[in-house]
Amino acid sequence: MHYDVLIIGGGAAGLMCAAVAARRGRRVRVVEHASRVGKKILMSGGGRCNFTNLGTTPDNFLSQNPHFCKSALARYTPWDFLALVERHGIRYHEKEPGQLFCDESSRQIVSMLVDECAASGVQISVDCAVQQVQGGEGRYTVHTAHGVLTATSLVVATGGLSIPRMGATGFGYVLARQFGHDVLPTRAGLVPLTLSGTHLDHYADLAGVSLPVESRCDGQRFRGGLLFTHRGLSGPSILQISSYWQLGEPLLLNLTPDLDAGAWLADQQRLRPGVELKTLLAELLPKRLAQRLCERWLENRPLRQYRADELRDIAARLASWPVTPSGTEGYRTAEVTLGGVDTRELSSTTMQSRRVPGLYFIGEVVDVTGHLGGYNFQWAWASGVAAGQAV
Ligand code: FDA
Repeated sequence: MHYDVLIIGGGAAGLMCAAVAARRGRRVRVVEHASRVGKKILMSGGGRCNFTNLGTTPDNFLSQNPHFCKSALARYTPWDFLALVERHGIRYHEKEPGQLFCDESSRQIVSMLVDECAASGVQISVDCAVQQVQGGEGRYTVHTAHGVLTATSLVVATGGLSIPRMGATGFGYVLARQFGHDVLPTRAGLVPLTLSGTHLDHYADLAGVSLPVESRCDGQRFRGGLLFTHRGLSGPSILQISSYWQLGEPLLLNLTPDLDAGAWLADQQRLRPGVELKTLLAELLPKRLAQRLCERWLENRPLRQYRADELRDIAARLASWPVTPSGTEGYRTAEVTLGGVDTRELSSTTMQSRRVPGLYFIGEVVDVTGHLGGYNFQWAWASGVAAGQAV
């Protein structure tokens, strides 16, 4: 069976690309090896899919080639996707500024994409593993569990390595290498960090405690929640900084991001000289954390016993709590995969290979990774549309 366009991977980018290409009159087939399409969409955003971010800019993405994402993001914006969502009558809300979620269920986003595909005649095969791809230059032969298919354009939309139990594979990277493309080293991103040794001994039993912080590392800083877990640290600010963190580096956590702690401590010393530091800090931080910090890291005394420079030092320490993670939770829980197909060998307007005509890479398999907050789906939609308009 011959198709104009064969898309490997029925996830966010693949389905979007399929719908756009088929609307242009292309004969399109999607092959998905999992039992259903869009599994990651289903589990995203706690089941409500944070489907875009109205504040999307190229600065929200990591890539060795930071300019690459600009063209596609400019040509298919969050407002374009929102218009599609509204056309399908899906109700949504804004959670954090710019982050849009379904009111009801992420199933609605999958249904919307599947309906868009069906309306323009896309054929979708699930439980359809791809065994081998041959050919190139406008004539691809794809051996699948459902037989041999041929296509003029081949779109690789196989996503990243995160959450293998949802169908993630490294097949896209294998194909990229097969066709002579470089694949930049991959690692887990938007992922909880683990602690070991004394850090774990001191803080693991705080599992469940959360607080707002600002995390810093590698010149980046993110405000948001920090959550202590049995194995280390999680929460939005940790997931965000995890994409920038490298093994062996410390993170600096500002535990009082909304306060001039130096001035506050000096005031409190004047107003309540007899109060102990741990009692005072429990007014700023979760009580168990305040106590633990005073047992393990700061000295607990009544405020009157601190010199002014000692109070300034405590404030500075609270603003830069150094934690050196031992690793990450890995692909098992990561939301995304950093690295991937090197974009320097792809066209930023069409996502087509510069090496092999008719071969396209879209979505997470490419070395473009968004921050937390709907940016990764916006990249999947935008890169899917860019290829869909070109195939
Ligand atoms: P995606 O992973 O969606 O699709 C790839 C498809 O290819 C899968 O269906 C897979 O089964 C299939 N496939 C793989 N190998 C294959 C093979 N050999 N043959 C055939 N098919 C194959 N982002 C965001 O913006 N907002 C959010 O709320 C969330 N939430 C979230 C939660 C969780 C738990 C995770 C793991 C991830 C998120 N994300 C997110 C990230 C987002 O899900 C992700 O960036 C996009 O789904 C990427 O879209 P792709 O289409 O590139 O890959």
